[in-house]
Amino acid sequence: MTETEEILELRKQLHEHNYNYYVLNAPVIDDFEFDRMMRRLQDLEALHPELHDDNSPSVRVGSDLSKEFQQVTHRYPMLSLANTYSESEVTDFYNRVKAALGEDFEVCCELKFDGTSISLTYEHGRLVQACTRGDGTQGDDVTQNVRTIRSIPLQLHGDYPDSFEVRGEILMPWQVFEALNAEREQREEPLFANPRNAASGTLKSQSSAVVAQRRLDAYLYYLLGDNLPRDTHFDNMRHVAAWGFKVSDAMKVCRTLQEVFDYINYWDVERKNLPVATDGIVLKVNNLKQQALLGYTAKTPRWAIAYKFQAERACTRLNKVTFQVGRTGAITPVANMDPVQLAGTVVKRATLHNVEQINKLDLHIGDMVYVEKGGEIIPKIVGVDMDARFMVGDKVTFVKCCPECGAPLIRYEGEAAYYCSNDSTCPPQIKGRIEHFISRKAMNIDGMGPETVDALYQAGLIHDVADLYTLKASDIVRLERMGELSAVRIVRGIEASKNVPFERVLFAIGIRFVGEATAKILARHFGCINSLKEAKIDDLVKVNEIGEKIAESIVGFFADSRNMVIVERLKQSGLQMEMPEGENDTALNLLEGKQFVISGVFEKHSREEYKALIERYGGKNVGSISKKTDYVLAGANMGPAKLEKATQLGVPIIDENVFLNMIDK
Ligand code: IVH
Repeated sequence: MTETEEILELRKQLHEHNYNYYVLNAPVIDDFEFDRMMRRLQDLEALHPELHDDNSPSVRVGSDLSKEFQQVTHRYPMLSLANTYSESEVTDFYNRVKAALGEDFEVCCELKFDGTSISLTYEHGRLVQACTRGDGTQGDDVTQNVRTIRSIPLQLHGDYPDSFEVRGEILMPWQVFEALNAEREQREEPLFANPRNAASGTLKSQSSAVVAQRRLDAYLYYLLGDNLPRDTHFDNMRHVAAWGFKVSDAMKVCRTLQEVFDYINYWDVERKNLPVATDGIVLKVNNLKQQALLGYTAKTPRWAIAYKFQAERACTRLNKVTFQVGRTGAITPVANMDPVQLAGTVVKRATLHNVEQINKLDLHIGDMVYVEKGGEIIPKIVGVDMDARFMVGDKVTFVKCCPECGAPLIRYEGEAAYYCSNDSTCPPQIKGRIEHFISRKAMNIDGMGPETVDALYQAGLIHDVADLYTLKASDIVRLERMGELSAVRIVRGIEASKNVPFERVLFAIGIRFVGEATAKILARHFGCINSLKEAKIDDLVKVNEIGEKIAESIVGFFADSRNMVIVERLKQSGLQMEMPEGENDTALNLLEGKQFVISGVFEKHSREEYKALIERYGGKNVGSISKKTDYVLAGANMGPAKLEKATQLGVPIIDENVFLNMIDK
């Protein structure tokens, strides 16, 4: 077998194994063998770039090239469904359909999956585009990210139409969601409120490698196209399943209203055993001709309705509201209540989110409050039983100053939360910064966690991150419940952190809005802390991915002399404050500050590759042409609107050869 044949064979087999594992839940080879085949494919693909295939199973691993999403107009608008919570409205829907059709009809009942919707386009059996709902007319092109989702086929089998769209829901299974939140909690990162937010947040991630790790799943529930195989929704979905998609087994054709209610009642209980979140039942008139007769309103089809399950709710007494200060200084109000049983657990605390919510509920101490746990892990207060209000206590008000240090509160533009203004001496903030500094993705200091930080702080041994480097084992060992071995391990961990690369040091020092990825970009671009410190807002915003908000935060950080003292002390302690020789991007800044718009089809590289090259050389990809655009990189079939706009604004239009010459220095 030639290497070319081997690549094609491996791709075919891996597609098949993916399907067996992720769609059918019936793997025929073990993980080890699967990984071996995947690695072999990746190795061979690296040797044969000319055989590149956007839909190779190897794209499931993802890439961390970041990109802005392109806006795409939906061929068929993505409508939503009319919602109801009451059984009588389901009856109304049924009777309305009956009256409008004047003939027998079937209703296909199915689960309403609670994730984020997606529209997939296939041409000749291959996935060509995946697009979010957006505003229903236009959505984001998230194809690269979706290609990493194992239950979405990249290559179909069987007798599929040449061209069609299929829609469904991207979900994060409960198990993945819980593990992700546990991990985030440990790293003290904000938790996702529910699997829906986690799924949509993940889908919009700038790195498809992150998407690949998050193990999303997908169920498909709607087929669109000009030549559909059958004339009922249910039958079409059976075909969709046969082509390789994951279609829920819970779909059922009902012939009477009673059957519909039986279905609803059965799944209201049984859904709790499913691996993914559902929030209701969707009823669809099954016959496509009847669907067409019923038609659409401006926003929703008249042939379908969603019946939403009541979130589980309990009623209990509010005893007090406390205010927590997080590591960023954000103040969160927390309701403390009489313990009450709710969806299988005892609940006594609930989040109140922010001041607006407190005011909206008009909460008083002693109120009987409704607590809900609808798909969210942290319960929330959704209302007050006004009839039970009798001789209640004080109205709940938001604190005026920080409950930990007494400093006045501030609000950042565009954010609902209040923050403590005293970031230099407010204890949770000080400890929070140190905890962030030592965390795994930052300096990764072995043997230390939030408890040790707290103990060291209480003992007066550390006040800021630079103090860590003055600690001696003999100091640490004096802490309560601290053994000699643990103390030595901590000191070793601190010592070892002096080798942590500059990009992670930059993340560790905790400049607001400078996350891991941003720190990496900045470290590579500026090469050392001194250059970054000298950078002006204008210099910073020229860097890819750095917007005004981040730039202002960086400049503000270095303008504060207290931060400068800490950075200087860290430098003196021997931390890495520059990139190793040859690893910064200064040689790659050929396109620095230049904005590109890509349009059309190319021969030498794919669009994605051109986008990546632009970023690699310091340029910026933008979606639409404006006065600020420096070049339009145009391939064949450039859109006429773009051509006109570019000509009108005098933006140079270059082809791929000119572009490749620009970076071939
Ligand atoms: S059908 C024109 N079926 O619910 C109707 N939608 O409120 C197209 N959803 O945006 C949608 N499960 O994200 C349909 N079995 C199901 C569904 C479902 C969840 C979501 C979907 C849609 C929203 C409508």
